[in-house]
Amino acid sequence: MKIMFKKIFERLRKDVGIDLGTANTLIYVKGRGIVINEPSVVAVNTRTEQILAVGNEAKDMLGKTPPHILTTRPLTGGIIADFEVTEKMLTYYVDKLFEGGFSFMTRPRVVIGTPINITEVEKKAVHDAVLNAGAKEVWIVDEPMAAAIGSRMPVKEPVGNIIVDIGGGTCEIAVISLSGIVLWKSIKIAGDEFNHNIMQYAREEFNLLVGEKQAEEIKIKIGSAIELLETMEYPMRGRDMITGLPKEVMINDVQVREALSRSLKQIVDNIKATLEITPPELVADIHERGILMTGGGALLRGIDQLITRATSIPVRIADDPLTAMVRGTAILLDDEELLKEVSAQTGAKINN
Ligand SMILES: Nc1ncnc2c1ncn2[C@@H]1O[C@H](COP(=O)(O)OP(=O)(O)OP(=O)(O)O)[C@@H](O)[C@H]1O
Ligand SMILES: [Mg+2]
Repeated sequence: MKIMFKKIFERLRKDVGIDLGTANTLIYVKGRGIVINEPSVVAVNTRTEQILAVGNEAKDMLGKTPPHILTTRPLTGGIIADFEVTEKMLTYYVDKLFEGGFSFMTRPRVVIGTPINITEVEKKAVHDAVLNAGAKEVWIVDEPMAAAIGSRMPVKEPVGNIIVDIGGGTCEIAVISLSGIVLWKSIKIAGDEFNHNIMQYAREEFNLLVGEKQAEEIKIKIGSAIELLETMEYPMRGRDMITGLPKEVMINDVQVREALSRSLKQIVDNIKATLEITPPELVADIHERGILMTGGGALLRGIDQLITRATSIPVRIADDPLTAMVRGTAILLDDEELLKEVSAQTGAKINN
């Protein structure tokens, strides 16, 4: 089956960088900056197949829809699971950006990040879809590389650096040197899994059914990876599994930490495992330069300290970790040489 996107991009005359994430979609347009930064959620009326809402508006509908309205997240684990809905989402965003008028000016170059663990077939599908959408050139970049560049990691140097990107669907760990990824690990334990951990904890400890949005709110408001100086608590609302009625209980940071502990341990263990197989020269560099963290998961309180405790390596959280990746695509659009070096084979320049 040939996967095609409509001619979404040909109406944009400027080069474009895209972070199509499991949780959030960000679009950078050269000369304009980050113009889209919204959740990767779409609400569809299943009776009419019409799109009702996209992004923030659709996320607000999560868990609150009547049966004929479906809120979906077209990406799973950073991979496009539903091309049709992804296309609709991107079309909606590009329509919002459309500068009006018609032009025969050049079509844009597009740099798009993809998860490091996707297959060549999946990568080709993304490439072809974006090309068919009206791009002049499509460059595919591994997400951790783009995030590292966006965080100003000196990726070109013959020096070992490590990045840990914790997004919604995946935690990607990559060792970088000389503009290449030396080795990497990717696990499906990240922000979404943290939310599920909180939902499970509420069921098991309080007989309370809570929605995913509520779980995410609790994670952001009082979630942490290490003990806090002051306790924090938050009202958790859901449905009592025994009475079937709405109920509110207070949940505190200790309980949320307990809920997240297994997932956090798996992340830490995978970072350690990656360091264990990293060649000694590069490990020595990493010890000196520290671990860089990006993605929304880096904002979990104390996650940097948890990793430092476990590895004895300093951790730096990127400035604005949620936008690091798309800022990396912006830098690459201005640095053709680096773009050629870091883009994967399928991202090699293809003209149509
Ligand atoms: N302050 C915060 N504390 C903890 N988690 C947070 C915070 N802010 C955002 N997050 C989480 O970060 C995740 C989104 O991060 P990000 O936008 O980097 O993911 P993504 O790029 O869409 O996903 P992926 O890279 O896995 O495809 C969500 O799970 C969100 O709940
Ligand atoms: Mg991401």
